[in-house]
Amino acid sequence: MCGIVGYVGSEPAAHLLIEGLEKLSYRGYDSSGIATLHNRHFHRVRAKGKLEKLKEKLEGQENLATIGIAHTRWATHGMPTEANAHPHQNDKVSLVHNGIIENADSLKKMLLQQGYEFESETDTEVIAHLLHYHLTQGLNPQQALQKLQETLRGAYALGILFAQDLNRIYIMRHGSPLVVGRGETGHFIGSDALALGEWCQQFCYLENGDFGWIEQGRLSLWNEAGEPCERSFQHVSVVSENQSKEGYPYFMAKEIHEQPQVIRQTLSAYLDFETFGIKEDFAALKSQGYKRVQIVGCGTAFLAGRLGKYWLEGIAGLPTSVEIASEFRYCQKPIETDTLYLFISQSGETADTLAAHEIVKAVGAPTGAIVNVPHSTLDREVDLSLYTYAGAEIGVASTKAFTAQLCALYALSLCLAPDHKKLKEHFEVLKSLPGLVQQTVDRIEKEAPRIAMDLAKTEDMLFIGRHTLYPIALEGALKMKELSYVHAEGYGAGELKHGPIALIHAGFPTIALLDESALKEKTLSNVQEVQARGGPLYGLVSEGALTAEQEASFKDILYLPKTSEEVSPFLMTIAVQWLAYFTAMVRGNDIDQPRNLAKSVTVE
Ligand code: F6R
Repeated sequence: MCGIVGYVGSEPAAHLLIEGLEKLSYRGYDSSGIATLHNRHFHRVRAKGKLEKLKEKLEGQENLATIGIAHTRWATHGMPTEANAHPHQNDKVSLVHNGIIENADSLKKMLLQQGYEFESETDTEVIAHLLHYHLTQGLNPQQALQKLQETLRGAYALGILFAQDLNRIYIMRHGSPLVVGRGETGHFIGSDALALGEWCQQFCYLENGDFGWIEQGRLSLWNEAGEPCERSFQHVSVVSENQSKEGYPYFMAKEIHEQPQVIRQTLSAYLDFETFGIKEDFAALKSQGYKRVQIVGCGTAFLAGRLGKYWLEGIAGLPTSVEIASEFRYCQKPIETDTLYLFISQSGETADTLAAHEIVKAVGAPTGAIVNVPHSTLDREVDLSLYTYAGAEIGVASTKAFTAQLCALYALSLCLAPDHKKLKEHFEVLKSLPGLVQQTVDRIEKEAPRIAMDLAKTEDMLFIGRHTLYPIALEGALKMKELSYVHAEGYGAGELKHGPIALIHAGFPTIALLDESALKEKTLSNVQEVQARGGPLYGLVSEGALTAEQEASFKDILYLPKTSEEVSPFLMTIAVQWLAYFTAMVRGNDIDQPRNLAKSVTVE
């Protein structure tokens, strides 16, 4: 989603800003822009499309300004055009904004009455003109910001240049995250620390309502009440992860291949495979005596929770509910202090998940996160973080973060299980997991293109599964939609007869997920129902699960290594990831940055 970078210091700013934007580009964007300030004049360059377009425009321009702001925009208000790209400005103010201003329409009306003209359709331009208006009313920049804070509704992180203030970037935050980084040659701002890791190791995370400015060697802040406040810098070594594809054609392929290692790392953070014990930090959770678990997340993270529910109930015996964050935050569910509220998020910055967490926190119930990005907002706000050790995930479609979330959920279920003596079997099963995932990654990479060629020709498809394979059917459909732009639905196989079976016809493929579980025969009955209506069937099947006669129902089958019921959802995950990947490839789509999507969804 939108990204912000800003710099003030002793070096020319433009090239640092572009490098910062490149680091943020994984979040997804559709236009970009920068503005520098020199001799009271803004120099603004913006472009629609990829950063390359912006770089082409900047090529050959000498720009010695040592202060500037930059932005990658993911369209919310208005199309992805150059006119809508940030920074937005007038002769006094230039600014970049992440978030959504909910009362932009009424503010715009007021400004139009004051004679302001608008050249974009964005909510952000309203902020630029509102600040301009306050300056013309005699306020200084700091007063104008305080006034702004009282007026704006919604979420915002802002980086602002005032033409009258040559050496400061003004900043302000409510809802959307903003971080200040202290570098050797100056101060930076960023929508996340990842953008700044190359230059900074000391970071200060702004609290909600904070506003102030950065200068070359200084940060000055006021809190929501307008009182000066100190926020400390902390040492954060942003692992400057290799943002290269390492020879893979896409980050997604690299990240699918990283899964055996990610699984190994995440499991061994929590489980001791030598002693079959739970690691100590994690075991402390057990003494809390939770009666229930409530999982909250969005998208793929939510689906990880859907699978985790089976383990938390089956292994730990804890009733578990799972809710999408955008519903949970408004559903007025009673919050109970003997429930563990578990928020799952790769980025730790998803606006709905953060808002849902705030509601629980306000009541004082215990909160935990399964989160991939240390120091992210969610990580900083929850009582306890269970990290997933997936490393930076660059592909917009989540792959390795999902399997790492599954590992953390499985380990949590073991930790909360009433009788640890019965767990040995689970340890044995999990020990074999990285190796089996490795075999699956390699095998399905070779075989999925065959089926993807067929799937790419359709516009609709269905994924079905039962029990722990049901959430993977949902995840398969989600991956397929977002990458291939083919309409895909995921269903519990037993639900087919209650409506979706009406969709089945010769041009509508069904992908059935089948392993050697007690419910296999039941899923096979559903497969028969599809076959009887002429629907083409494809199978993702554990080796040995089908007889030759059963195989005959399928047009094609991808066989996964033979394994236990506990492990098969992991292997099926790999299969649905490759299927979506290759279907998207056949259709010529941008695999790492699918259209309309953002990696980090920081607006509601
Ligand atoms: C799908 C995908 C999204 C995210 C969702 C939540 O492949 O990546 O559905 O899972 O936007 O994001 P996080 O986990 O960062 O909260």
